[in-house]
Amino acid sequence: MSTPIPILRDLCVPETASSLEDILNGFRAHQVLKAACELGVFELLSKGQSFEREEIVKRVGINGMFIRSFLLSLMEIGLINEKDEKYSNSDMAETFLVQSSPLYQGGWIEQDTGKDSRWNDLTEHLKKDKPESYAFDQAPKTDFIKALGQRSLRGELQGVAHEVVSWDKFSEARNVLDLGGGHGLYAIALCQVNTDLQGVIFDKPHVIPETNVFIENYEMSNRLRAQGGDIDTDDIGEGYDIVLASHVLYKFRKNMPEFFRKIRQALKPNGLLVLNHWFCSPGCIPTDGLLEMDKAFLSFGHPLCYIEKFNGLLKDCGFRVISTKDIPGTFGTSNLHLALKTEAVPDFLQPESVPCCSPR
Ligand SMILES: C[S@@+](CC[C@H](N)C(=O)[O-])C[C@H]1O[C@@H](n2cnc3c(N)ncnc32)[C@H](O)[C@@H]1O
Repeated sequence: MSTPIPILRDLCVPETASSLEDILNGFRAHQVLKAACELGVFELLSKGQSFEREEIVKRVGINGMFIRSFLLSLMEIGLINEKDEKYSNSDMAETFLVQSSPLYQGGWIEQDTGKDSRWNDLTEHLKKDKPESYAFDQAPKTDFIKALGQRSLRGELQGVAHEVVSWDKFSEARNVLDLGGGHGLYAIALCQVNTDLQGVIFDKPHVIPETNVFIENYEMSNRLRAQGGDIDTDDIGEGYDIVLASHVLYKFRKNMPEFFRKIRQALKPNGLLVLNHWFCSPGCIPTDGLLEMDKAFLSFGHPLCYIEKFNGLLKDCGFRVISTKDIPGTFGTSNLHLALKTEAVPDFLQPESVPCCSPR
């Protein structure tokens, strides 16, 4: 049966047309942000500087025909303010879009939305039946590590550091291992609080030059060392008071007992294991689609499953959980587990190989 030809004059436009436009405006707003970053608008208007329209046209080099609507768009999305016909950064732009700000997010925005973003190739990505696997030295790229450092400072790192610092033996700790530490900001944050703490940021060899940039920028070269290696096959050291692993377990989910065995060996008796990871919600039912998709891209296909069994797994692997905490961040909640190495030598479990989200 063929579809009847519509009578155009009588076609009703439902109100949802504006909702559709709202979705498209999300894309346009993002392009306005992107262009303003590329043109250096936020650097120009930073540190209390304000300029009139004509001056902005001249300095950033765009066609004056677009300036009114461009600036108005930036005002509408909250990135600039106008007073007496002069334009300056909003607090949001000054905090997140000016390179000298400690909370600068430009690198993360580029990773999340730029040409290498999985969001740019979503259809293809959705068709893949398993996470991409790269050669050991091909991923992550150092730009990604830098971006991850910026992203972690949007609340998550502060939340994790606050909890670790609250551990009653924290002031006595002398050595920390940040396993798969990448940028190393977690270890850096802990060393800033405990001035007697030193340690190692362990990551893949090709990541180490970027780790060293962070160590130098935070003036920690005398207390933190970046060490290249493979967690799977290399010695990760021993005698640590604290071992921290943040967003590292996803890749090792099929053999977590082996991962924990290695960490247990690296820790002193009663040493502290700090784990910070995303878990899926019970039953794997997503509560925020976009956020959960983003997490899936970043967690080797899917967050960890079975949070309700995780304390038991840690116990079986020779750890006593002393605290669990939800760490809120702009990217949703991560789950922090603090656990002490116990005396008993455990019989290691067989790995749980089927995630709760697997189509069975
Ligand atoms: C998602 S990043 C997490 C970085 C940081 N811990 C954080 O939470 O922001 C995972 C890190 O683990 C490192 N990594 C993954 N597999 C590794 C392996 N087999 N040996 C050493 N490092 C590894 C990666 O290079 C990357 O820096």
